[in-house]
Amino acid sequence: MILIKLGGSIITNKEKPLSARRKTIEKLAKSLKKIDEPIIIVHGGGSYGHYWSVKYDMHTKEKKYDLRGIAIVKNSMIELNKIILDLFLKNKLSPYCLPPTDFMMGNKPIQKKIKEITKIAKSGLVPVTYGDALWFGQKKTYILSGDKIMTHLAKTLKPRLVIFALNEDGLYSDLRSKKLIYELKGEQPSISENKMDVTGGMARKVEEATKISKMGMNVFFVNGNKSERIVKAVKNRKFEGTLFRGKKNV
Ligand code: IPE
Repeated sequence: MILIKLGGSIITNKEKPLSARRKTIEKLAKSLKKIDEPIIIVHGGGSYGHYWSVKYDMHTKEKKYDLRGIAIVKNSMIELNKIILDLFLKNKLSPYCLPPTDFMMGNKPIQKKIKEITKIAKSGLVPVTYGDALWFGQKKTYILSGDKIMTHLAKTLKPRLVIFALNEDGLYSDLRSKKLIYELKGEQPSISENKMDVTGGMARKVEEATKISKMGMNVFFVNGNKSERIVKAVKNRKFEGTLFRGKKNV
């Protein structure tokens, strides 16, 4: 099984609120169609949920956030999710919409529900879930990022491979020269010094990818604009991107 995150910066135009990159999503769908293993898709919020969560000052920490903000973030994620589901359908994939409320209770994954996702994927359906604003309890809510979902799913489902499709070629050791890091073996690269992404978006991906690789799985960062690279990564062909080598494989 392959677990794939489609980052918000690849499926949406982050410069423009509420704009999905439909052509890119279609290309991604066409590439995903070429994978003949069960796949699970997680997508980010980009110029939909992410945009609104910033507007309403909502974060991953559980707090009493603005009720309108919660409602609007959730609504926008449904909208983006629908676009993805429609374009997957159009490109002959059979997506199975799985809002995170289906397998999360507060900030804890429901193990029984998560295990069920494997069965759904193995049937040929493509489970599609996404980062969202979630109820925590005691009038508090929080933002559950798609990156965090990746870690929750990887921990229980132990996919053969974990892929993050980004709007970059991978992780750069130097942002100015865009010198690509090809492989990391267990070490956590220093992103703060690297100043790769001031919003912390890339730092969070690296944090989750490092966690997952420490659980023993290989994690790839690939450029989602060149979606054939996802297929290459899956089919063990010449790989272009950054590999976080799983601890057990180092
Ligand atoms: C989006 O998930 C969560 C919301 C703000 C609703 P991500 O945090 O994984 O989204 P991207 O990939 O960074 O845009």
